[in-house]
Amino acid sequence: SYYLQDERFLPKEEVRISPDDRGYYFGDGFYEVFRVYNGKLYEPEAHFARLTRTSEGIRIPLPYGIEELHAKLKELIALNSLSEGTVYLQITRGSAPRAQPFPAPARPFLHAYTKPLERPLAAMEAGIRAATVEDIRWLRCDYKTLNLLGNVLAKQQALDAGAEEAILHRSGSVTECSASNVMIVKDGIIVTHPADNLILHGVTRAVVLRLARAAELSVEERPFTVEELREADEAFITGTTVEITPVVSVDGRTIGSGSAGPVTRRLQRDFAASIG
Ligand code: PDD
Repeated sequence: SYYLQDERFLPKEEVRISPDDRGYYFGDGFYEVFRVYNGKLYEPEAHFARLTRTSEGIRIPLPYGIEELHAKLKELIALNSLSEGTVYLQITRGSAPRAQPFPAPARPFLHAYTKPLERPLAAMEAGIRAATVEDIRWLRCDYKTLNLLGNVLAKQQALDAGAEEAILHRSGSVTECSASNVMIVKDGIIVTHPADNLILHGVTRAVVLRLARAAELSVEERPFTVEELREADEAFITGTTVEITPVVSVDGRTIGSGSAGPVTRRLQRDFAASIG
């Protein structure tokens, strides 16, 4: 399959990444994961807006404009005949001998590839088990940066505990998951952490909140506790690859009825309709 390296399309075998790449030394870079349905990027504007926001926040300029980048990603999808899957795009601060100061001039390095991936229908139906893990990440989780060690350790801790996803909390206040956002439903009200610096502003999260409001469901964007999570009627995670996946147990304890609840099902149906 073809990769995009800066402005060029190359077979994977010909992609060249420098050992002096700052992404490799410092995790000094950022990324996006886009969903492709029917050969088309899903919610591209939201992903590009987040990419631009992170680029400005961490002061790594995009190597070229969003319009050109959008066109390149479309070309990559076509070259790889991708119908259902994801596009991974990563940009680092480029390569220079290992030293913390920004290298001058900045020469950001970009690479992107596609991956075929089916919709996660089985997990969306049966739900997943989650484990709570202390959120030890930095305080700018709203930037979609590399440096995912906090996420990696949390995910592995959850897997080691026999669960599929880690629900992160800061001293008992739930933030998000290792690679998704999380929402609970209590007495018909959907509750999720506000889009501040402690969570990634998920594209799927925003779509789900839009669908919830359109369905006249009540939404509260406020932090909730691990205790509230345990006592919830329903819980589900949202993300580009997981879509809307029910959480049926947390730390081995059943949530609600132990299977996807009515609000989760409604949102799953509306989400499926939104992707066509
Ligand atoms: N993860 N929170 C975190 C920490 C994430 O890494 C992700 C996405 C999300 C959900 O965001 P979105 O709905 O925009 O996908 C929330 C991607 C898929 C990843 O790193 O693989």
